[in-house]
Amino acid sequence: MTVNSSATAQSAPAIPTGTGHPRRSVRQSSKLRNVLYEIRGPVAARAAEMERAGVDVLKLNIGNPQPFGFTAPPHITEEMARALPTSHGYSDSHGMPAALDAVTGHYAEIPGFPELRREDVYLGNGVSELITMTCQALVDNGDEILIPAPDYPLWTAMVTLAGGAPVHYRCAEDDGWNPDLADMEARITARTTAIVVINPNNPTGAVYPPHILEGIAKLARKHSLTLLVDEIYDAITYDGTAHTHLAAVAPDVLTLSYSGLSKSSRLAGYRAGWMVVTGPKDHAADFLHGLDLMASTRLCANVPGQHAIVAALTGEGDHSIGALTGPDGRLTRQRDVVDQTLNAMDGVSCVTPRGALYAFPRLNPDVHEIRDDEKLVMDLLEREHILLVHGTGFNWPTPDHLRIVLLPEEQVLATAMERMGNFLADYRQ
Ligand SMILES: Cc1ncc(COP(=O)(O)O)c(C=O)c1O
Repeated sequence: MTVNSSATAQSAPAIPTGTGHPRRSVRQSSKLRNVLYEIRGPVAARAAEMERAGVDVLKLNIGNPQPFGFTAPPHITEEMARALPTSHGYSDSHGMPAALDAVTGHYAEIPGFPELRREDVYLGNGVSELITMTCQALVDNGDEILIPAPDYPLWTAMVTLAGGAPVHYRCAEDDGWNPDLADMEARITARTTAIVVINPNNPTGAVYPPHILEGIAKLARKHSLTLLVDEIYDAITYDGTAHTHLAAVAPDVLTLSYSGLSKSSRLAGYRAGWMVVTGPKDHAADFLHGLDLMASTRLCANVPGQHAIVAALTGEGDHSIGALTGPDGRLTRQRDVVDQTLNAMDGVSCVTPRGALYAFPRLNPDVHEIRDDEKLVMDLLEREHILLVHGTGFNWPTPDHLRIVLLPEEQVLATAMERMGNFLADYRQ
């Protein structure tokens, strides 16, 4: 795994200016040491440089639907446009009442999901902001937070920035990338305070079956741990795979569940997400005050985005994702192309993604001797103009995986996979 070594606490050297007032160099905070976000890291920066030089780069690094021709559901955009002239004030820091009600109403329709009150809901500028707020409110210096490996790296980054210690539990590729519950339990110590669960998972595409979720709930109960459940892909599953909300399996455990419009409604730029708190709260009043404090300090989520939440979750709602993930849906066909071509490549295997927007193939080390997977994706970029993210960028411990975004059209993906296959066939480090 790369480290962010430019963050240093050393005193900064001064640069002479010839004016008698030397300029002290401005350094990033040492708190950013080990804070990483490789999805937009150095390889992506090189891709941007190539694009500025006129090179056409196929960017399969970010789960951003719009550039691949996915349109916004028109009634949501129309509602935002209608509300824009009256959206210029702050709202309450949890969110405006209509949007809070839209979220409580949305979960009320999910069987077994605990009942929500307005005060259990927090709206955010995307799930990203809510993850940051949660970590700032919850994680104390040295607290250990269990996070999946591989993970969506924002979780590891924000736990680290909050002074906590991310402890990665293994997800088992040979078990469909389900969390390895024995490994998870073995990593619990007296300092462990919470378990992060990402389901459906980015980057693996796994959708966890009920028995795995029950196993996680059992560990949380036994060790008095809070559950932090990132379900931003909850509406994106393939092959009729059912998604189960962990909060419904663990109504007796303090659980924070996160979702939003970035993926299911393809509205990543509207920055509209929510977080709901379920389970017993009497033992958590202090933390919840901290969460309210964090919500207040950023004043509120953007109000036009809150109107989008109302339009997406009430009235006719937004069910457009179903057509994309159905048997002949665009996303399903794209998933199939990537899954089939990867599994046909020599020395490459891929657990078929059952949800989310990514494939996370394995490069068999006996066939592909990769010592540095960041170099691999940089070389792929330079030679084939295809931008992927290396597996260690997702806190996966060994340099033998890549993440591929499933968003481009079938033909574009087929060509990209062919070029990647040819590249790998004679690539040596
Ligand atoms: C697992 C996961 N959580 C959270 C996010 C951030 O979502 P948002 O756009 O709501 O900030 C992403 C974005 O890719 C993600 O993959």
